[in-house]
Amino acid sequence: MSNNWSQDVYIKAYKFAAIAHLGQKVTGTEIPYIQHLSFVSMEIIAALNVEQERDENLAVQCAILHDVIEDTSVTFDQVKTEFGLPVADGVLALTKDESLAKNLQISDSLRRIKEQPAEIWMVKLADRISNLQPPPQHWTQAKITRYREDAIEIYETLKEASPFLAERLASKIENYKGFIK
Ligand code: NI
Repeated sequence: MSNNWSQDVYIKAYKFAAIAHLGQKVTGTEIPYIQHLSFVSMEIIAALNVEQERDENLAVQCAILHDVIEDTSVTFDQVKTEFGLPVADGVLALTKDESLAKNLQISDSLRRIKEQPAEIWMVKLADRISNLQPPPQHWTQAKITRYREDAIEIYETLKEASPFLAERLASKIENYKGFIK
């Protein structure tokens, strides 16, 4: 089995993200934020190993860059210049529109993701798989419950893009019940 994504493409995106997110931490920890991007891209690569017929470089780049527009000063145009339009469009779809009310942001983003190729759907599945960790101490039960419900919405909306990631997300959602008292 050979991979159809390029290590050099991965490294370029990773370095760009590492600089963009420099100083940011994983919520509630001292761990550098880049850990999250390592986990999301790892989930994508695991899926690409078993699910062929994907644009693997598109999937890997969007996995690594998925939070740069939302969480850093990097703009859509910068991503487009560095990585091309399909990557920039994918990252933008994965970016919440903060001008909307909070309860509308997920559905809006999912609607925009569904207009993108399956690789972008896969990144959103991988993102939520990576985020279904033990919740931060300061989260309320209501917030934890809502986070699980959002995960179910993501699963239901995007599961067709990747049976491999969908199954993995389903088991994370099941385990997350343990954090709801
Ligand atoms: Ni993320």
